[in-house]
Amino acid sequence: MEELTRTAEEKLRTYNQVHLIERLQRLPENKRHKLAEQIKHIALDRLFQSLEKQELAEGTADASIKPIAYESWEQYGKGEQQAFADRGWELLRRGGVGAIVVAGGNGSRLGYDGPKGTLDIGLPSGKSLFQLQAERLLHLSRDAGRVIPWYVMTSEDNHEATKAFFHASGYFGYPAEDCFIFQQNSMPAVGHDGQLLLSADGGIKLAPSGHGDCFASLKRTGALDDMKQRGLDWLFYCNVDNALVKMADPAFIGVAAYYNRDIAAKVVEKTDGQEKIGIVCERNGRPAVLEYNEIPDEISNAQSADGHLLYHLGHISILLFKLDFIDKHADADIPYHMASKKMDHLDANDQLIVPDKPNAYKLERFIFDFFPFAELITVLKVERQEEFAPVKNKTGVDSPGSACRLVLALHRKWLIEAGVPPEKLYGRDIELSPLQSYGGEDLSAEAWEAGLNR
Ligand code: UD1
Repeated sequence: MEELTRTAEEKLRTYNQVHLIERLQRLPENKRHKLAEQIKHIALDRLFQSLEKQELAEGTADASIKPIAYESWEQYGKGEQQAFADRGWELLRRGGVGAIVVAGGNGSRLGYDGPKGTLDIGLPSGKSLFQLQAERLLHLSRDAGRVIPWYVMTSEDNHEATKAFFHASGYFGYPAEDCFIFQQNSMPAVGHDGQLLLSADGGIKLAPSGHGDCFASLKRTGALDDMKQRGLDWLFYCNVDNALVKMADPAFIGVAAYYNRDIAAKVVEKTDGQEKIGIVCERNGRPAVLEYNEIPDEISNAQSADGHLLYHLGHISILLFKLDFIDKHADADIPYHMASKKMDHLDANDQLIVPDKPNAYKLERFIFDFFPFAELITVLKVERQEEFAPVKNKTGVDSPGSACRLVLALHRKWLIEAGVPPEKLYGRDIELSPLQSYGGEDLSAEAWEAGLNR
């Protein structure tokens, strides 16, 4: 016990955390033990190394940035599209594909308290983002004759609430043994003055360490072993906050398998240079994503000779990774990106401080910092209206309201394509269940008339 405290104190002294040494000395034995134990497990060396270098992530300065080669789904002929989809189905039937949703972030921009995946975006059914994803996977699983294992990454902040939501919803019909809810890694938050902060419970204040820690978190929690045991070849990856995401899309899997590169990424045409999505490009001859808040204007707005946006491939966080690649790079020391945030904490007198301006740095790893490990990646451009309805802001652009309208607009389009007269849909919000139609298939005007598609 004394040994533990001494080791913690030494570690803290190395990084000038005097306030914590004083705290350790003041605390009663049981609390001292708890704090010392926490300090023992925190990688302070890695944390302060990042802070010292200010920004370890490779930015655009002194880098050679170029557009990247890509495929376009719409440009394939019908026969090719079918062949790709068939190839994807083959893998799904063989049980070679799992899906992961990264759901550890907190919806601070959204002003929503619960886990983002539990959000009801206002669809007539009231389905949550998690339920939409689950039902798409269930549809494919049913057709493939094999359940697609689903891995849900949470964070310390929302793990229990997420588990409780899944439990209360009966896993949306998903077999519980095929749904692996696991908690991601975290990293201490550091005050602008370089001091570690204290959380309300008197421990070191931690924050989720970014979705780029998901491979390491998969390994730590045993989820990676589970994937290996199941014999997965590919892992489909997506954000929690896209209401239109085509989970484990067979066509995408088919394209990725055909090119057989370690990573495949879906992209959409950016609306304009300033749209708040990352861009997929090449940096120093390797595949990369430049994040929207880290791109200088001359790159975001650059135009090609024919007057189009040069960096027009918007990153929508829909990816496929080969399992071997994940296994090989799970422990890779990818950089941390630093963001200045408002973070409440306890002061030396145990008073809760709620700052009104940013006071601390949060360190996050980004999934796309694995891209440069692959020499080439497959980039597939898809139709935005069919695949991307982000939920980021409380109102206006990229809000629950805009995402809800996009889902309903797509379902209306599917029905019209299936032969339902547009006038019958006029003024009505029709939502189709993903259990019934995954991507607009299996709909007909006759069934609609008979009330089967409603
Ligand atoms: C993200 C992408 C951006 C892309 C956009 C598409 C990053 C850094 N940027 O932006 O390139 O154009 O999506 O919508 O990803 N998450 C965790 N753990 C964490 C942090 C985040 O699981 O520690 C999850 C979130 O729950 C969310 C996803 O990662 O599902 C994206 O995170 P977020 O920080 O919201 O990224 P965006 O700014 O939306």
